[in-house]
Amino acid sequence: SSRPVTVVVTGAAGQIGYATVFRAAAGDLLGPGVPLRLHLLELPQARRAAEGTALELQDGAFPLLEGVDVFDDAAAAFEGASVGLLIGARPRSKGMERADLLEANAGIFSVQGRAANDGAADDFRAVVVGNPANTNAYIAASHAPDVPRERFTALTRLDHHRAVAQLAAATGARVADVDGVAIWGNHSATQYPDLTHATVGGRPAPEALAEKGLGADWVAETFIPRVAKRGAEIIEVRGGSSVASAAHAALCHVRDWVRGTPDGSWTSMAVPSDGSYGVPEGLVSSFPVTCRDGAATVVPGLELDGFSRARIERSVAELVEERTAVRELGLLGPRG
Ligand code: NAI
Repeated sequence: SSRPVTVVVTGAAGQIGYATVFRAAAGDLLGPGVPLRLHLLELPQARRAAEGTALELQDGAFPLLEGVDVFDDAAAAFEGASVGLLIGARPRSKGMERADLLEANAGIFSVQGRAANDGAADDFRAVVVGNPANTNAYIAASHAPDVPRERFTALTRLDHHRAVAQLAAATGARVADVDGVAIWGNHSATQYPDLTHATVGGRPAPEALAEKGLGADWVAETFIPRVAKRGAEIIEVRGGSSVASAAHAALCHVRDWVRGTPDGSWTSMAVPSDGSYGVPEGLVSSFPVTCRDGAATVVPGLELDGFSRARIERSVAELVEERTAVRELGLLGPRG
């Protein structure tokens, strides 16, 4: 059998971490038949809880799971890792300014970027889930000059899934019949869920929507806010933030990245921009991407109408602002 893949999970004792590790151990992260070792990283005060999770993982008797180690030191946790699920982050507390939030998280993601740089395996790749996810990924990459920049990505797959599900519901189609949805920009309320290239059962989405009496107004006033503010809706209805759906999205993100997207189809990932669609190079922004041989490529040559352009520009402007803020706070590493 092959050597196990080491996966480091940060914030492993948190809600999303807890929901992620059991499915990863069951094969939903790297695919069936791929053995793995889990490195659970937590803050010292949550280390004991992570040790409890490790005991439960043992009790799962997962055939693919070759070991679980618990850490409260990033350097040790990233040692030998090929995959990073960077979930742990500092939440915004009451009265916290945005600069304070960026600064607290930069403290976390700079340390983890350096740990990845110094100790991770050559094929290390990471998805940042912890918010502000795009900028946290940018910070980590800036502190890991020896790791190819494109290995630091951020999660917008949950937004992608939300958009797919809303389009399916609105048209009365099955989720499996929806294709070509894209999320652009920041994982924030400014994100742009784009239906202009989407299809429903092979037909252009606008056509399928028109049949239900839904036009551009519905997209702008109902669909986009519904997707962009779904996190708040979940909090209101469930009484807690999105957890299992976020864990599911993170698993899908990594699995597609490593194993490839289906032929003729794309997904959404926040990746360092290659400069396409006017997004400044290096900025970690969501795009429609295809994955093959372990690399994610921005889907080239899509036509964007004026509405799409304006929406993307607005979200990208927010990412530029976040980058400027962390740069001015002196929080970026040697790669800048
Ligand atoms: P949580 O608060 O339940 O868990 C976070 C865990 O991270 C805590 O156990 C904490 O001790 C740990 N942690 C904090 N700093 C750490 C560090 N330096 N090293 C290791 N562990 C550390 O939060 P939850 O619900 O699991 O959410 C995690 C993050 O994911 C949040 O930032 C949340 O906003 C974000 N999120 C992102 C989504 C996305 O689509 N990108 C969707 C949903 C949540």
